[in-house]
Amino acid sequence: MKKVLVTGCCGFIGSHLCDELVKEFHVIGVDNLSMGSLKNIEHLKKNFEFHEVDILGKEFRTIFQSYKFEAVFHLAANSDISKGDPERDFKDTLSSTLVVLENCRMKGIKDFIFTSSGAIYGESKKILKEDDGPLFPISHYGAAKLSSEAFISAYSSMYDIQAWICRLPNVIGPRMTHGCIYDFKNRLKINPKLLTVKGDGTQTKPYMYVKDTVDAILFIWRNAPDMLNYYNLAGIGQTSVKEIAEIVAGDADIVYQGGDRGWKGDIPTYNCQTSKLGLLGWVPRRTSTAAVKLTMKKL
Ligand SMILES: NC(=O)c1ccc[n+]([C@@H]2O[C@H](COP(=O)([O-])OP(=O)(O)OC[C@H]3O[C@@H](n4cnc5c(N)ncnc54)[C@H](O)[C@@H]3O)[C@@H](O)[C@H]2O)c1
Repeated sequence: MKKVLVTGCCGFIGSHLCDELVKEFHVIGVDNLSMGSLKNIEHLKKNFEFHEVDILGKEFRTIFQSYKFEAVFHLAANSDISKGDPERDFKDTLSSTLVVLENCRMKGIKDFIFTSSGAIYGESKKILKEDDGPLFPISHYGAAKLSSEAFISAYSSMYDIQAWICRLPNVIGPRMTHGCIYDFKNRLKINPKLLTVKGDGTQTKPYMYVKDTVDAILFIWRNAPDMLNYYNLAGIGQTSVKEIAEIVAGDADIVYQGGDRGWKGDIPTYNCQTSKLGLLGWVPRRTSTAAVKLTMKKL
């Protein structure tokens, strides 16, 4: 059976990706458990091996010495974006990408799949297309993702590594650990009668269900033919924070704290064009708001 590596396998999206990959591959998952949880992979028995390893530590290289991977899915990153910790973003989001790429180069691995983010585009009112530029991210996280894309481009060109960059929107679903739906649910557990919302509720973004995201990532890997492939991902349409608050709050009162964003570095409005992915043949099956409602049922 062919082997693939998934970094960040104990995280939200990584664990769902492993759920799909084990149907076809022997999956080696690595995670340092800084953000992820063993609970997310405890159901994975067949075709799955877990190694608790930090990508930036010495043992990571031994993983590459022990196996020959068909493909490497690099998802590990610092997803705790709102804290704005530049050193952690530099290490876990950017340096980790460089370390994984370097190991791919040394072992002659030719398939590299990367989860980038809409945060690379910075703040814009435009409908963002893959070839828009110049790009000026407004968060350390966005800067680390954009720099990662630059290293992936360089490694692809210098060492013939085929790369698939997936620029994800807000991904939601079971096992999520951050984001407004998760925050709102937790706040309501403390006070079921009142939901306090950061910002004025007008922040509007596409929300994508995690299973659809994994489906799109695998579709892009299997079908996009270029040496350097880069795609925006999203479902259909967008959802405002106000709409989410109303779905989550039920009978509770909602109070908006004001301001145009949840935290400094947050992009209040994100709208990306996904026709490139549509032309490749991937058809979204859910609206953003349907993804929010489904997530609410499953959380
Ligand atoms: N969730 C989203 O809405 C979203 C949106 C855009 C992009 N992304 C990207 O998708 C990927 C997965 O996101 P997620 O939401 O599942 O995040 P997550 O935090 O749940 O998963 C990331 C995993 O990486 C691990 N990790 C971090 N640094 C590591 C290191 N140095 N060595 C080993 N493991 C390390 C963490 O422990 C965690 O389990 C990330 O690259 C993220 O930037 C996510």
